[in-house]
Amino acid sequence: ILIVAATALQAYLLGSVDTGILVSRLVYHDDVRNHGSGAAGMTNMLRTFGKKAAAMTAIGDVLKGVLAVCIGRWLFGYLQGADISPYLGAYLSGILAVVGHSKPIYFGFKGGKGVLVASGALLAVQPVLMPCLFLIFLLCVLPTGMVSLGSVTVAGCYPLLTLGYGLWQGLETRDLIVTTVGAAIIGIMVIYMHRSNIQRIREGKEYRFGKKHQKKD
Ligand code: G3P
Repeated sequence: ILIVAATALQAYLLGSVDTGILVSRLVYHDDVRNHGSGAAGMTNMLRTFGKKAAAMTAIGDVLKGVLAVCIGRWLFGYLQGADISPYLGAYLSGILAVVGHSKPIYFGFKGGKGVLVASGALLAVQPVLMPCLFLIFLLCVLPTGMVSLGSVTVAGCYPLLTLGYGLWQGLETRDLIVTTVGAAIIGIMVIYMHRSNIQRIREGKEYRFGKKHQKKD
């Protein structure tokens, strides 16, 4: 129980370090959450402060996802011998890192939408799925200019691809359940965080790169 709690806690605390908020405050003396969509993510950093700010945010958010999973995996290493899935520590960390990023304890529980931190976690757990999900993302974003459409589509595809890949790998049932349920929880959280984007997409009012209109969430 101690190891599970430590894993969850470190992932939540690491996830709470929202790079977008830090970069906007330290470098631009502003808070990205007061602009654009109000989200502390790469997309809103790009929209508000430009490419360099977006790149720093992307790197920081992906890295903290990777780090949370690595630490979680290491902590769960102490449970060797226990009859649990080797994916459990990694997915628990991934989920809590996304929670931290979206509801950061250091920044008033208002953060980003979890896509990049989830990508970092995925990179550490199942990197083989990355190119496929990235392709789906590009196919959604390039023709429409809507990053949110790509994010939501990828979040929906993620558990399905995880399940498919697990079956193809011949994972045992226990691991298949952990990976698929873990991916589904992350996917649902990311979609939930995009609920205002989904509403705007449905109304045809979503921000598109290249056009200027955006409402605050
Ligand atoms: O990853 C966030 C992106 O999908 C949407 O961001 O700022 O347009 O709500 P934003």
